[in-house]
Amino acid sequence: MGSFKFIPKKILLLGSGELGKELVVEAKRLGLEVIAIDKYENAPAMQLADNSFVIDMSDKKTLKKKIKELKPDFVVPEIEALSIEALKELEDEGINIVPNARTVEITMNRDKIRNLASKELNIKTAKFNYVFNVEELEKKSSEIGFPLLLKPLMSSSGKGQSLVNRKEDLLSAWNDALKNSRGKIVGVILEEFLNFDYEFTLLSIRKNSGENVFCEPIGHEQYKGDYQCSWQPLEMNQSLINEARKIATKILNNLNGSGIYGVEFFVRGKEVIFSELSPRPHDTGMVTLVSQNINEFELHLRAFLNLPIPNISLLKPSATRVIISDKESNNPSYTGLNEALEVENTKVLIFGKPTSKKGRRMGVVLSSDDDLNIARENADKSAIKIKINS
Ligand SMILES: Nc1ncnc2c1ncn2[C@@H]1O[C@H](COP(=O)(O)OP(=O)(O)OP(=O)(O)O)[C@@H](O)[C@H]1O
Ligand SMILES: [Mg+2]
Repeated sequence: MGSFKFIPKKILLLGSGELGKELVVEAKRLGLEVIAIDKYENAPAMQLADNSFVIDMSDKKTLKKKIKELKPDFVVPEIEALSIEALKELEDEGINIVPNARTVEITMNRDKIRNLASKELNIKTAKFNYVFNVEELEKKSSEIGFPLLLKPLMSSSGKGQSLVNRKEDLLSAWNDALKNSRGKIVGVILEEFLNFDYEFTLLSIRKNSGENVFCEPIGHEQYKGDYQCSWQPLEMNQSLINEARKIATKILNNLNGSGIYGVEFFVRGKEVIFSELSPRPHDTGMVTLVSQNINEFELHLRAFLNLPIPNISLLKPSATRVIISDKESNNPSYTGLNEALEVENTKVLIFGKPTSKKGRRMGVVLSSDDDLNIARENADKSAIKIKINS
């Protein structure tokens, strides 16, 4: 008997972290072929993919050569640190970049997405200024006022971000931002520090038809720009949800590529304030692995493969709590799994990262219950049992 593939398609995953790993699970369930790439060996998604390669994806020549050699039907970025020139040229040569190269470029640059949202589409954001040389730092900061957030123009997961309370601290924040910035650009964004009531992710799916559909809002908490816990649904006023959907629709209609988007918002009083978005599954959205009929990874696949998404429904209130390493190790091991799994309706995902370092996300606990508060408590209770050893 020959091999039968329901959807004979080859997917090339650029970035092989925990989100990529779950994408591979869903892709393999649909019978797709997946090749995983990252800059280090044995990355989480590589452990499940059909094949994998270690390359420098920020190098244009290297990335272009590898993609041309592999001839994938879809190139699916999982990270932001990619040579955008390579992706743009390949798209011009007829290769499918998910959701499209322009969107990947806009969303990997804080200034490009902010200009599009705020200036072109008239969407409400925090007050902001760009600074491209250190001489302008004080003047541009005084226009925003203190406290402010200073962020590299290119970075993610809170890297290089500082909360600056007074002008004396600007220079060290600037230096820290440039040190942690991706690529060669010298520049930062200054943002008014918003004292928001809460923040949330609106997973938004753009179908091939141009229709946009939405998941229930996901609440989350961040520490130093990195996500700690998330939950779905988030109790919030329907009119605020509608406002967020309207904003997401404006942006997705402009970006116009099929796939899932994690659109991030702040809520302050009756205001919905747009922050940023990622054109791929979102870390806070791992909650959908247990909360929804179709999780964010399968939604992404269905959207760019042009498969039906007849309905998205919430099955049960659910929550996540991340498992963070507090030490460095070249061979991390885990204890406490027995205790963690004793908590009802709880799953533990260990990402299988080959090394740990202080602050690195190594796993996540997922928990569901008819009562959201119990789901949140259970996720916390379970996650605290897991210990990472060197
Ligand atoms: N203007 C702001 N006012 C108050 N808090 C903010 C502001 N901007 C960002 N934050 C806080 O910092 C977090 C991270 O910010 P942001 O999403 O811009 O960073 P990031 O590095 O792109 O993170 P990621 O890639 O993980 O989404 C936000 O989720 C929010 O908690
Ligand atoms: Mg963010």
